[in-house]
Parts: sequence; structure tokens; C-alpha cells
Amino acid sequence: MSDASGVESARPNGDSERHPLAMETLVALCASRGFIFPSSEIYGGVNGFWDYGPLGVELKNNVKAAWWQRVVRERQDVVGIDSAIICHPRTWEASGHVEHFSDPMVDCRACKKRFRADQLDEAGKCSAREGSSEHDFTEARDFNLMLQTQIGASLDATTAAYLRPETCQSIFNDFKRVREAARQKIPFGIAQIGKAFRNEITPRNFTFRSREFEQAEMEFFCHPSEREQWFEHWKEERLRFHRDLGFSPENLRTRSHGEDELAHYAKAAVDVDFRFPFGWQEIEGIHDRGDWDLSRHSEFSGKDLSVTDEVRKERYTPMVIETSVGVDRTCLALLVNAYAEETLDGGDTRTVMRFQPALAPIKAAVLPLSKKLAEPARAVHSDLQRCFNAFYDESGNIGRRYRRQDEVGTPFCVTYDFDSNEDGRVTVRERDSMEQRRVPVEGIVSYLRDRLEVAL
Ligand code: GAP
Repeated sequence: MSDASGVESARPNGDSERHPLAMETLVALCASRGFIFPSSEIYGGVNGFWDYGPLGVELKNNVKAAWWQRVVRERQDVVGIDSAIICHPRTWEASGHVEHFSDPMVDCRACKKRFRADQLDEAGKCSAREGSSEHDFTEARDFNLMLQTQIGASLDATTAAYLRPETCQSIFNDFKRVREAARQKIPFGIAQIGKAFRNEITPRNFTFRSREFEQAEMEFFCHPSEREQWFEHWKEERLRFHRDLGFSPENLRTRSHGEDELAHYAKAAVDVDFRFPFGWQEIEGIHDRGDWDLSRHSEFSGKDLSVTDEVRKERYTPMVIETSVGVDRTCLALLVNAYAEETLDGGDTRTVMRFQPALAPIKAAVLPLSKKLAEPARAVHSDLQRCFNAFYDESGNIGRRYRRQDEVGTPFCVTYDFDSNEDGRVTVRERDSMEQRRVPVEGIVSYLRDRLEVAL
């Protein structure tokens, strides 16, 4: 079923040759340390599906919390929702997905593998043909990427439904209800984070192209005369967010879509790209969707989704500026961005994940120097645990315990030693500088909190 990681060697999109990190190294670290690994691994995995382990789920939750804070909580003009994954099937006719949401696909008659017709340069050699290594391709045909399911017990066409391929369509379905309930006036936005599903022909590059993934989307509704202005506003806002996540500027770029690349709904689009080991690739799209969605849902549902503007004395269908970021792609980019190998004084090497403290899965690890110090060290741990994700580890020598925490990006290690019983102080070691400082036990929570709460 699966080749598990789906990781490929360098691809032609950009200067992947020179990237210092091999994806295989990152994939191995993610599995061994419990960030991300193949779903149903004991059965060999299912291609395009991934599970987040104890550290991965913390990282992902921190990314989602940072996005929600920035896009919803810090603004008066954006409200949040959490809608069902399954929408009324007519939704996908109105949105254009039933008609347009497909990739051209070809099969190889010999090895039976399936490829995207627009990515045949990546198909490699055919393993099944003797005397020739070329594939024997069928004609290209359109393959709809929506995953289908059935609602209820009977299996007929009336019960067919789709797992949503993007989260935003329910925002359009809910537009009127949410605007009225939240007493919002145009311009304003509706945001949500949630799962999306696409039956990708060739899932690849670890979680980069999955069949089940999470999106964080925001649809901003505005007057037609203000669409360019809001498009620019959101482009800047989203770039500021990515910079604040800690992506190095040389690994981040924007790219405007040419006319021929635009999705069926889009009037203009800009991608935010990150430089992965497999080349420059999109992590977020900012789209001017015009009035496509609201007009189509008005038409298909028979409900008028236009608004009355009391000031302008006008009735119109709002324009939509969309920001749509992949949560999994952001996590993958953060993992790539954080990874570093260092040679220390004395020749030892360490692997360190330099996450921003606010994003780090574990904020602080409490390490008693000896198991005899477990009791007071556990008391420090439980104080910290009440405030943030703290970890306790008493096994192995202290150097090895520091390395284990470096490898998962824990910004602070708190060591309880024999002097701590005497002077009431613990040693705080900082991940990046490896500097150590004695800090009073009673002040440890606020000491760490001050250093962790550097806002994104
Ligand atoms: N509502 C607009 C929309 O869905 P998109 O460019 O198709 O636009 C937005 O998707 C984002 O969702 C992408 O920038 C990417 O981060 C994420 N995404 C899309 N397909 C994905 C996949 N197969 N696996 C992981 N993330 C994906």
C-alpha cells in the first residue's frame, strides 16, 4: 500500500541541491522521537496519511493556537467557527468542485502505477517492463480529487456525500447566519481550522502532500471597491505571521500566480513559499475569490446572500479575500527550519531543534541529578506542569538527558542537584546558548514564563 514516508530525492523546483538537510534525516527523527509517523504503521502504513505523536500534537496545537490568536482573537473584525466536515452535497456542485476539482491522471499499463499527467518528469523508470525501462502510459484522463462517502444505511446516489476538500465552503454556507449572530458588518472575516481531504494521485514528500490534512482558513468579506486594499493587507499580515514563526527570510518568498495558474474561483492569488529540502513549495495561498462563492451558493441554495450597505445605500454581493494555510505544511516547514547539527567544543556533536519557545512542544524539562532527588524535583515539575507543557526525566547521565531535550527542541532544562536542597536554587540551562544559571526554586515558574511568553 504505502512506501511509508513517500520522501523523494531532490526535485527540480528550486535550488534543492544545496539544502543542508536531507529529508530522510528529518523523517527518521520525526518517527523516532514521536513527532510524526505513518498512520497504521503496524499494517505498513496508508500512503498519504500520517499520525502525530506526543511531540507532534503539541507542535501542531501550538501552531494552531498562534494562528487563532493572530487571526481571530487579536482582531475585532474576524470571528471563528468550527463546522462539520460533511456539508450538504449541493455545496460541492455550487463551489465548482464536482466539475473542476480534478488532476489529469495516467496509468502505466505495465507496472500499474498511477501518475499525475503534469508531473511525468517525476515518474522514474518502469520496474515491470523487460528490455525497456520506459513506462507504457495510458491517455490522460481527469480524476476528481474529492473523497466520497455515504450518509446513513442505504447505498444509493441520494446518500452520497464528500469529505470536504477545503474548509472554507462551510464558511460561505454559514455566512448569513454568522454575520447576523455575531452582529458583524462588511468588511469582516470568518475563520476556521479543520481537516480537509483530497484523494491526491501521488501523495509525497512526507506530510507535504497528504490525503488528509488540516487547513487554517479565513474568508474576509468586503465591498468590491476595497478588494485590492484588503488583498494587500492580508498578504502583509500573513507574511508577518510566517516571519514571526521564526522562518528565516532567505527561506520564505511570495509568488504571484499567472493567469493560466489561477484556480477556477480565483481572480488573483499569491503563494507564500518555503524552501524545503525538495525545493521551494507553497505553504499558504492568499486568494481574491471575488463574489464567486457567495453568488454560486445564492444560486444553488435559493437563499439571497447579498448584503445591504446602509451607508452606501447599496445592495451587493461581497467580495472575498481568502487566506488559506496548511497546518501540516507549516509544521513540516517549522521542523525543517528548526533542525541544526552542531559540533561542540571537545568535538562532540549535537542535534538541536531551534523552535521558537512559544512553538516548542515541551517548554521545560526537569532533570534531577540523582534519583535520590526525585521527590523535590517532582515537586518543581508539578509546579511547572500547571503552567505549560513540562517534562520529567531522571534516567541516564545528565549530558545525555540534555541531548535528548535538545533533539526535541526543549528551550529550558531545569536541573535539581544536591546543592538545591541547601540553597533552594536549581540550574536552568538554555537550549541554544547552553548557558547555565542558578535560579531560586520559588521564582522558577515566573523566570521561565517571562522567557517563554515572548509573543509570536
Ligand atoms: N480554500 C483554498 C484552498 O484550499 P489550496 O491552495 O488548494 O487552497 C491551501 O490549499 C493550503 O492547504 C495549501 O497552501 C497547503 O498548505 C494546504 N494543502 C493543500 N493541499 C494539501 C495536501 N494535499 N496536503 C497537505 N496540505 C495541503
